[in-house]
Amino acid sequence: MSKIGVAMIGCGGIALQNHLPGFALLPQAKVVALCDTNPAVLDRAKQQTGLSAAFTNYEDVLKHPGVDAVVIATPNVTHAPIALAAAHAGKHILCEKPIAMSLAESRQMIDAATKANVRHMTAFTYRFVPAMRYIHHLVKSGHIGQPYHFRAQRFQDWGDRNLAWRQVKKLAATGELGDMLSHRIDFAHYLIGPITRLVARLKRFIDIRGGQPSDLDDWVSIIADFENGATGVFESSKLATGRSEGGKSPDVCEVNGSEGTLVYQLTKPNEVQLGRKGSTTGLETVPVPEEFLKVPGSPRDVHTGDPVMTFRWDQNYEFIDAILNNRPATPSFADGAQCQAVMDAALKSDETSAWVNVPTV
Ligand SMILES: NC(=O)c1ccc[n+]([C@@H]2O[C@H](COP(=O)([O-])OP(=O)(O)OC[C@H]3O[C@@H](n4cnc5c(N)ncnc54)[C@H](O)[C@@H]3O)[C@@H](O)[C@H]2O)c1
Repeated sequence: MSKIGVAMIGCGGIALQNHLPGFALLPQAKVVALCDTNPAVLDRAKQQTGLSAAFTNYEDVLKHPGVDAVVIATPNVTHAPIALAAAHAGKHILCEKPIAMSLAESRQMIDAATKANVRHMTAFTYRFVPAMRYIHHLVKSGHIGQPYHFRAQRFQDWGDRNLAWRQVKKLAATGELGDMLSHRIDFAHYLIGPITRLVARLKRFIDIRGGQPSDLDDWVSIIADFENGATGVFESSKLATGRSEGGKSPDVCEVNGSEGTLVYQLTKPNEVQLGRKGSTTGLETVPVPEEFLKVPGSPRDVHTGDPVMTFRWDQNYEFIDAILNNRPATPSFADGAQCQAVMDAALKSDETSAWVNVPTV
């Protein structure tokens, strides 16, 4: 059987950290072409992969023979135009989060991918953390009864350093909201279900980052109602001084239900904290069972490498497996768009200082 040929569009940080190592593990897939508008970044990716098929224009990489699928790992403003062109060219698409600049754009992406009958996926990478997969199983199987409260916190210390396109509204649409909270909004959808309405506040503390102006939020919080009656509280900051960053900083998600509590922490990806009803001794640490340590079928060795990093590669397996089996990929563009609906509502709430209803995609 021939391998699924993948083009990497955008060869910056996340392409090198998540996607190239993820595809390298898969016997059924091969990265066959690279694309980046920055020649220096493209050269680095060529050296890392040994590939010579390299393009600075995405229209050209879409025409390259052997490209069946694309990963879009570029600044947010380019996601929709590249996805529409890729769908038009009949390519399967794994698009980085947030999938678009607005709900309207993300709806166009769903329509284009559906019309072209290609697989589509949003890179909500943290769904693949073993602890998140296990908590999902426990919540959905009724282990903690009726969910009352969802809570998510993402605290990092990024100080006032330059964030390049991430600090520019016309390139990123939002700051901390789309960059970090989008993953946690997806946790909420994954664990609890649709959000019906919310009130939000966004704030920028740092106007100049690395000598360049920033016009985007460094902090965001949301209070939300879910369709099933549960409540949600979210907070995410780039300015949690002294709290470190990446996999070493707090990424905590908690669900309190009528029969118990479950806590996920990125820093402990292979265990969950469980609170039993009536307990007087606090939370218990429960290891994630072996069958939840990876997506079934993933060739990854769960006992090798840093578990805070390696779960990310299951995302690439899910994408390729969906293509090979002609089934929907999860999370899909619809999941990306539902998150975008919450983000758009959060912006509107902040602007109007009011509760805002969230449409269903
Ligand atoms: N899923 C995750 O955990 C995760 C983590 C980090 C970043 N991301 C997302 O990935 C995307 C990229 O982030 P990054 O950190 O890799 O950024 P980056 O700046 O490191 O890399 C982006 C690259 O895209 C290139 N580029 C810009 N416009 C292009 C175009 N039109 N065609 C081809 N290449 C183009 C840039 O030259 C750059 O090299 C963003 O949407 C971001 O939100 C997701």
